[in-house]
Amino acid sequence: MQHTPAHYLHAEGVSLTFSGVRALKSVSLTLERGKVLGLIGPNGAGKTTMVNVLSGFNTPDEGRVRLDEQPLHGLGADAFRRLGVARTFQGGRLFRGLTVQDNLEAAGVGLGLSRRQAEAEARRVLHALGLEHLAPLGASALPYTDERRVGIARAVVGNPAFLLLDEPAAGMSEHEASDLRDTIAQIVQQIGCGVLLIEHNVRLVLSICSHIVVMDAGEVIAQGDPQAIRSSERVRHAYMGSAGDGTEDAAPLPAPAPPAMEIAA
Ligand SMILES: Nc1ncnc2c1ncn2[C@@H]1O[C@H](COP(=O)(O)OP(=O)(O)O)[C@@H](O)[C@H]1O
Ligand SMILES: [Mg+2]
Repeated sequence: MQHTPAHYLHAEGVSLTFSGVRALKSVSLTLERGKVLGLIGPNGAGKTTMVNVLSGFNTPDEGRVRLDEQPLHGLGADAFRRLGVARTFQGGRLFRGLTVQDNLEAAGVGLGLSRRQAEAEARRVLHALGLEHLAPLGASALPYTDERRVGIARAVVGNPAFLLLDEPAAGMSEHEASDLRDTIAQIVQQIGCGVLLIEHNVRLVLSICSHIVVMDAGEVIAQGDPQAIRSSERVRHAYMGSAGDGTEDAAPLPAPAPPAMEIAA
């Protein structure tokens, strides 16, 4: 099983253009083990593309991604995963024809574990996350929120150093989202990984993240602690700018409070 000594996952000056669309414009951010970094921004801001770059699904046109001092440029997603960078997908993608147990085992085998090791690892992770009752169920029979949780459990197989979660609470009630926050906190505590949390539910982000990066139109427009983000006019403007399109992006930020923040140039 992989064990990386890396403490940081860095993206530096990452840019990526898709047939004329500049999805990322010189984005830099750093994940630290044991901490939850929030990434928020309106639809189309480039959040998922950033996760794709950080997990090796996309190679940036410019800039670089590294684990501590180890450059990851050009390595594929499987290599990123083996080096300890795991992710979930927006909307969740389990193998629907398999049981929950088999979904996790497949992840373990993908990491190079034997079938026997993968079986034990799957059981360990499901137990650690309090999901063992789901093990024999078919993935296609799972209620939506359980499918989301299993998607996270699958990413936790092999104790990744970094875990990238793309809107894990989408479609959940406040109560379910709050349970999910507890699960994420538990994962960070148990395996000490660094988490990137992309989430429309700003309340959830502000309640669990020590540092938050705000993107809009492919750029980092602000970053800071939860208080700084609450009080940022620029962040408010980015969210209000997409108001009226009927999406959750227009959801108001929780009440502002004073203090300092960095605003990217
Ligand atoms: N594979 C792709 N091909 C072309 N355009 C893409 C692709 N992936 C993302 N984009 C574009 O990049 C921008 C950022 O998208 P995305 O990263 O999905 O934003 P977010 O996750 O913040 O909603 C959008 O304009 C989107 O249409
Ligand atoms: Mg997205």
